[in-house]
Parts: sequence; C-alpha cells; structure tokens
Amino acid sequence: MDLVAAVARARSPENPGPDTPAGPAVRAWPGPPLPIPEARAGELDLRALLGLSLAASDGSGRLRPAPSAGALHPVDAQLVVGAGCPLPPGRYGYDPLRHRVHRLGREPDGVLPGATVELSVTPRRTLSHYGHRAWPLMLLDTGHVVAALWLAARALGICESLPRLDGLADDPLAAVHFAPPQGGGRASRPAGASMDAPAPRELLARRSAPPPLGGTPLPDVLRALLATAVQASAGELAWCAAVGGPRPELVELAPDGTLRRLAAGEARPTLAVWAAGQAWLADAGAVLLAYGCPSDADAPRIRRAHLRAGFAVHLAHLTAVRHGSAARPVGSWQQADLGAALGAAPGRDWIVHGLALGTTHPDEEKTS
Ligand SMILES: Cc1cc2nc3c(=O)[nH]c(=O)nc-3n(C[C@H](O)[C@H](O)[C@H](O)COP(=O)(O)O)c2cc1C
Repeated sequence: MDLVAAVARARSPENPGPDTPAGPAVRAWPGPPLPIPEARAGELDLRALLGLSLAASDGSGRLRPAPSAGALHPVDAQLVVGAGCPLPPGRYGYDPLRHRVHRLGREPDGVLPGATVELSVTPRRTLSHYGHRAWPLMLLDTGHVVAALWLAARALGICESLPRLDGLADDPLAAVHFAPPQGGGRASRPAGASMDAPAPRELLARRSAPPPLGGTPLPDVLRALLATAVQASAGELAWCAAVGGPRPELVELAPDGTLRRLAAGEARPTLAVWAAGQAWLADAGAVLLAYGCPSDADAPRIRRAHLRAGFAVHLAHLTAVRHGSAARPVGSWQQADLGAALGAAPGRDWIVHGLALGTTHPDEEKTS
C-alpha cells in the first residue's frame, strides 16, 4: 500500500463506493482464550490497563472506551509480555470482546520487563464503509487508542512519560511500553503531561456527543483545549479553533498561552463541506482543528502526523468534558487546505483531524 498516494486520494473529492462487509470485529487469534490473572504486588496490572482502554465496556453496542471512525474499530492489539506481569512471558493476541488473551508464541530475546502493547490495523473493517478514505482514519484511530492506553496507565499510576509516536513502522503502527510498578506509591504527573491523572470512571464514561453540538465554549475552555492539543502533538501539527457565536473567528494559542485571532469570519460552513458534507458542523459551537502534514510528506511523516493528531484530540476530548463541554471527533476531510484558504501557499496545511465542540453549560454563549 502506497500511503502517500492513499492520503492524496483520501483528500480528493472522489466519493467512496457502496459499503462492503466489515468482517469480524476481532482478529481470529489461534488457540484457547486465556483469562488475564489478577496482578500481584509488584506486577503490572494488565487486566485493569486493558479493561480501561481496549475492552468492550458495556452492552450499548460500543466496542471500546476509545472512539473510532464509523465505530468500526480497526485497531488490534498484541502484547509482548516480559517479567513482572501476571501472564507468563510471551507474545499474546488480545480479544477486546471477551477481555481474554491468546498465546501466540514466545517472547523475543531481550524482552523488557513489563509489557509492550503493539497496535496494528485490520484495514477491511474501516475500508468497508470509507473505501479510499480509510487510511487517514485508521491512523487517527490508532492515535486515539494510544491515548486511551496512556490515560488508562495514568489512571492506574503506572505511566512515566508521553508515548513516542515516531511513525517509522507500518506494522505495528505504534508500540507503547508499560513498566511494572517501581515499589509503592502512585506515579507523579509525567513530564510533558498537561492534565491530572483521570479517574477510571472518566475513561469508561467517554462517549462522542451526538450532534447537534450547540453553544460556544468560553475562551478559557478553548485555551485549555488548544494547550492540551499543542503539547500532546509535540510540534508535529498546528492547532486552531473555528468559533461560532456573535463574532465568528479562527483562534489559536499565542506563545504566552493566551488566545489570539488567526482570522476573522465564519469558517464552520466551509468546514462542514470539507468534512464529507456533515452539515451539523456548521452549527457546532466550535471546532478544534489540527493541520499540517503537507502534500509532499513521506509515509513516516504522514503516520506521525495522524497518530499524534489522534492522540492529541483524544486528550483534548477529555479536557473538554472536564470543562463541561460536549465533543465529537471529526476525521474525514476532503480538499481541506486550511492554509490556502487563509491565503498562504497551497498544499502545506491540510486539516488532519478535528474535534467538534458544544456545551450545555448555562454560562456559555448559546448559538441556537
Ligand atoms: C478518527 C475518528 C474520526 C471520526 N470522525 C467522525 C466524523 O467525521 N463524524 C462523526 O459524526 N463522528 C466521527 N467520529 C466519532 C465516531 O463516530 C464514534 O467514535 C463512534 O461512533 C463510536 O462512538 P463513541 O465514540 O461514542 O464510543 C470519529 C471518531 C474517530 C476516532
């Protein structure tokens, strides 16, 4: 698969064809399903880590506590387990529907203590609905799953640093290592993390708010969201928010952490057209936007930009909910050359991901 060509085509106005069968929601791992034993003192709590991030969480039809374009959940997880885990060392496939693992083989030489979660995709699931638009969405989905894992680890006090999402490999697309706990006490806030550790119930309660999303979030909320996203995407992307209300504009974060105007005027109807014609976006209170990933980006840069955009939008979503805002990721963008629309050179600043925002908070401005 030529990712550069696939992303160029996904950005084109071409429409996907009719749906095809998505296939099974879980990869057919060989061998018997095994329960994940309870962690003893000093062991990595794999059961809780996966339960808060990847396991099917309720009977409502939602597969996992992470969002997914079209709820198709293309991301599969394998575990490379070393010492200090409740499972014997080895490689395992994870079944999110049963919250069970399947032993696939022995661990590689030199395996690290703890566990590495390797994420790859089954393209058929997302291709089934999105056709040629699927590849950017699958990369974004993977970034969201990394964030779900990272937040779960933070909720359990077992994470030390922000995950590296370098985009260098295409299989696995991302690998996140979790070390066994280092004796007593919860881990402090990791370097680079802008938010407090989440409570497990916050992670399990996450949903994409159904449209319409009316009501403009307050400037302080937008500032917090932009700060979270800028920090989480580690310089790979630029961020702004299209704001509705009586003075529609595009705002961004200034170096001193305040909000500043990037452009005056109403952007949301254009965003609705660019986002596969989703008309409800024109009435969203605000839309957080990640942009960059130029037309001449190579495959590692495309992977990096999309993985980090998914990761950052996931953290921004949690930040939004904490501030009383409702949010929904928006991942399918065609001809969305934001830079060119603002008068800069074309092909440099494509919209990569978005988070539509609204609020039901009584103090916020109402647009409807
Ligand atoms: C990468 C990505 C792109 C998405 N794009 C859209 C979108 O364009 N429009 C939309 O209404 N929802 C979008 N969603 C939200 C999904 O439809 C939603 O996550 C899915 O239906 C599962 O629901 P839940 O998030 O409440 O668990 C997207 C989610 C992800 C992760």
